[in-house]
Amino acid sequence: ISTQVAIMGAGPAGLMLSHLLAKAGIDSTVIEVRSHQEISETVRAGILEHGTVNLLVDSGVSDRVLRKGDRHDGIELRFNGESHRIDFKDLVGESVWLYPQTDVFTDLAARRKADGGDVRYSVTDTSVHDLEGRPKVWFTDADGVESEIQSDFLVGADGSRSHCRFQIPEAHRKWYFHEYPFAWFGILAEAPRSSDELIYANSANGFALISQRTETVQRMYFQCDPRENVAEWDDDRIWAEFRSRVNGNGFELKEGPVIEKMVLPFRSFVHTPMRHGNLFLAGDAAHTVPPTGAKGLNLAIHDVKVLFEGLDSHYNAGSGRLLETYSDRALERVWKAQQFSYWMTTMLHTPADADDFSRARQLGELNSVVSSRHGMAYLAEAYTGWPGAR
Ligand code: DHB
Repeated sequence: ISTQVAIMGAGPAGLMLSHLLAKAGIDSTVIEVRSHQEISETVRAGILEHGTVNLLVDSGVSDRVLRKGDRHDGIELRFNGESHRIDFKDLVGESVWLYPQTDVFTDLAARRKADGGDVRYSVTDTSVHDLEGRPKVWFTDADGVESEIQSDFLVGADGSRSHCRFQIPEAHRKWYFHEYPFAWFGILAEAPRSSDELIYANSANGFALISQRTETVQRMYFQCDPRENVAEWDDDRIWAEFRSRVNGNGFELKEGPVIEKMVLPFRSFVHTPMRHGNLFLAGDAAHTVPPTGAKGLNLAIHDVKVLFEGLDSHYNAGSGRLLETYSDRALERVWKAQQFSYWMTTMLHTPADADDFSRARQLGELNSVVSSRHGMAYLAEAYTGWPGAR
């Protein structure tokens, strides 16, 4: 197989890049080790920045997000038993959309299929070669046939356990890590919505996030120990935990049967630079953020937008400058998102060993945000998404 751009990974980043390239007349082949079904059934986050929504709609992927998603003009920060609304529309004139990542994947996969895109799921035995020259990808397709892709460029959009990232020699990269002393216990529950907007709750018992999926299914999380075992949590124990963190002062969660439970890992990671030779990394392959604030998917889509601009200008305008600066331009937003996710996480979570000073200081921090228009606007601007790369 000979193509201009080979893409490892058919998650939202890989598929969005392939879609944008196709619209600009640039050929790509996407390979993916998971099956279409496995990706579409993996529960992920649900908040899209306005820029992500605009790209999905304006590039012609689908306008389903506008019809089936819910626009959210704010969130609630809840601490000390009281809720404080952060009004995005009023503060920064923007909104976000509640639209699960699995739906983003479904829309992108359907668009690539309808447009005749070359996307191969369920491949095995992948390996990449000649990254500093003309990259090659070897793989075995779903029917057991061994193939080779030759391309001008290879894009590693192959997620947090990226195979591509590990092919970059240690002398040519730097890794940044931060571990947190907690994780999230995530559930899907059959219940009506408890609130119109998402609630980010800080309490002495730890953080909780009340999100949503549909009229009848809700998504919620509570801060837990990273070694927590979901099998030890029945519905009663789960709901008691949520109640202790969010109920009070007239607010009561609407409860129902828990239909899915999982522990989500929690860390910050950045690989720099996001390029080695003719290999470009995008999305989780290059960086991980903790889930607080839902930046992961939005960041991946931003990487791809910047990378697309570089490839488009290389092929269609004969200029290599935007491709040369891909890593720097993408990393600028990556570090803003790392800061925002770290800040939201540390401001809202309660470490198990927090002393009285840390706890009181944390409430001081939360108060300084919600009592200041500037504080709230900082949060609103980051949450809804900063302007795109220059
Ligand atoms: C969701 C996840 C997040 O991490 C977040 O900050 C908001 C919403 C969600 O899954 O709905």
